[in-house]
Amino acid sequence: MTVRENEIVSILGPNGAGKTTLLKQIYGELEPDKGEIRILDKRPTDVKVKKKIGTLPQEVRPFTQLTVYDNLFYIGRIKGVNKKTLEERIEELLRKLDLEHVKMKIARDLSGGMKRKLLLAMALVNNPQLLVLDEPTTGLDPEGRRKIWDLLLDMKRNGKSILLTTHYLDEAEKLSNRIYFLNKKVIFSGTPLEIKAKFTEWYEVIDYTNNKVYKVGGDKVKDIVMSIKGKFEVKTPSLEDIYLQIFQSE
Ligand SMILES: Nc1ncnc2c1ncn2[C@@H]1O[C@H](COP(=O)(O)OP(=O)(O)OP(=O)(O)O)[C@@H](O)[C@H]1O
Ligand SMILES: [Mg+2]
Repeated sequence: MTVRENEIVSILGPNGAGKTTLLKQIYGELEPDKGEIRILDKRPTDVKVKKKIGTLPQEVRPFTQLTVYDNLFYIGRIKGVNKKTLEERIEELLRKLDLEHVKMKIARDLSGGMKRKLLLAMALVNNPQLLVLDEPTTGLDPEGRRKIWDLLLDMKRNGKSILLTTHYLDEAEKLSNRIYFLNKKVIFSGTPLEIKAKFTEWYEVIDYTNNKVYKVGGDKVKDIVMSIKGKFEVKTPSLEDIYLQIFQSE
């Protein structure tokens, strides 16, 4: 498995598939029994690597007794960011993640979604070259999710590498350059388009003149569409449909 620069890679798979276990190995919390992980040509546990990556674990809380600002400041200093750069970076992140109004709040008093956003900001505070995010948007409202998507796409455009897991298939489709389907091993991988091309076995044609829905193979779509004298729509299976197809047939 690889993650390159200018790339967002998603790992998708059922509960217990080993996504978190793999991510923990990548950010150096667990040692793999077999195989090897290299980040920027070094081992994940190398201190130099730790300063260049940002991680958001699946189950973690901010320092509950510290304010939002102090949480960010503390992590930034641990990661070796100088004070001036850090102060600017914190303001930028608070603005981008809509956390300015809770800057001086004690982290314990934040809502669940805001805690998650603070944790993401903590992962980003050192402007990391590699981001490893375990379900970054779980529990966030739609607006918060969009903000995070924009932020991640922005980072990707600026040459960063991002590896994430998610159970939201629309999110994976929207963000990913490549996807790995994982269940204890890699089941399939590719770009969202490659995956759709390989697994699309049917199309849905909706005839709005009589509100009928036809589920047909690729060769039949043209005939049906030609016979409709009015408004219609053709839909391909969503990534979620394909996900279910892949893991149910395992
Ligand atoms: N490659 C593997 N082979 C065998 N067992 C594994 C492997 N990877 C992880 N496990 C075991 O599977 C269990 C669940 O793993 P993990 O927490 O990584 O799942 P997950 O994919 O993150 O699930 P969730 O979607 O619920 O967060 C753990 O007990 C872990 O030790
Ligand atoms: Mg997990």
